[in-house]
Amino acid sequence: MDIEAIRAKASGELETADTGSSLLAWHGAYLGRKGEVTMILRSLGEKSLEEKKRLGPAAQALKRDLEAGYTRKERLLKGAADAHQRIDVTMPGIRPDTGHVHPLTQVIGDIRRIFGGMGFKTVEGPELETEGYNFDKLNFPKNHPARDMQDTLWVSAPKGLLMRTHTSPVQARYMEKNLPPLQIIVPGRVFRNEATDASHEANFYQFEGLMVGKDVSLANFKYVIAEFSGQFFERDVDVRFRPSFFPFTEPSVEIDMRIGSGPWLEMMGGGMVHPNVFKAVNYDPANVRGFAFGGGLDRWAMVKYGIPDVRLFYNNDARFLRQF
Ligand code: DAH
Repeated sequence: MDIEAIRAKASGELETADTGSSLLAWHGAYLGRKGEVTMILRSLGEKSLEEKKRLGPAAQALKRDLEAGYTRKERLLKGAADAHQRIDVTMPGIRPDTGHVHPLTQVIGDIRRIFGGMGFKTVEGPELETEGYNFDKLNFPKNHPARDMQDTLWVSAPKGLLMRTHTSPVQARYMEKNLPPLQIIVPGRVFRNEATDASHEANFYQFEGLMVGKDVSLANFKYVIAEFSGQFFERDVDVRFRPSFFPFTEPSVEIDMRIGSGPWLEMMGGGMVHPNVFKAVNYDPANVRGFAFGGGLDRWAMVKYGIPDVRLFYNNDARFLRQF
């Protein structure tokens, strides 16, 4: 067959080769080891000089053109496959990498929202505190062991300042500046001079609550706590008050909870505000009554999400944080 006839046939077939395998077969038929063009080039050696001169360049040109046609077609088919992939609606999507809200921040949000729904306002206070607010105005005796170096992180200068050991000083700060009736929630960071383990951190979070009015009762207190815990855990929660002692409340209670049919857990402390605390903020204890409570925010988060170790909140391991 003459060169131009082969060119015409090959071009026509290349035109209709529209899959990878038919393109490969086409390549084999013309340019492969036994392909038509290859055979012509190989047979040149046996031809006369004159024939070589006539056929050689034409056969070489055909080979070049067919190789170029092959490459062009190959690229075309690959491009079509890629384009098809780009609009393949059955492909799983790529999830955008979004940030996560830290579980403690989420719990603070829950506390603000749920207590907010019951008329409590969220306020904050300083982490660097005076002995007066952290202890004296809360009716701690001068020799109370909590003031000791072992429990409290004292600041070396200026003398007399400490890192607050609880959020309770904000009770006194707020009452000094506001008159009853009042309802506040105080989430915040607190500090203790202690060794860390799975359930102790040297700094952690608490949330404080305070409600003061003319005739605020222990029954009101229990209702607010039961309402909050039910909404927070989104389960049935039993609440139990157990007698306890805090310098700033009288009577004082330890508050236990049972979530669903789980075990009883000690979740916070509280009580009726002690008359000495009212006196310290210039309220008349004969005319006002109130309740106060404080809980470990980390502990509430651990119970809600089943987190076994408080230190997980603070070491910024993305594998932990990504779960929230
Ligand atoms: N401040 C206490 C603590 O750190 C918790 C607490 C107990 C807060 C009783 C209160 C309260 O307001 O009434 O352990």
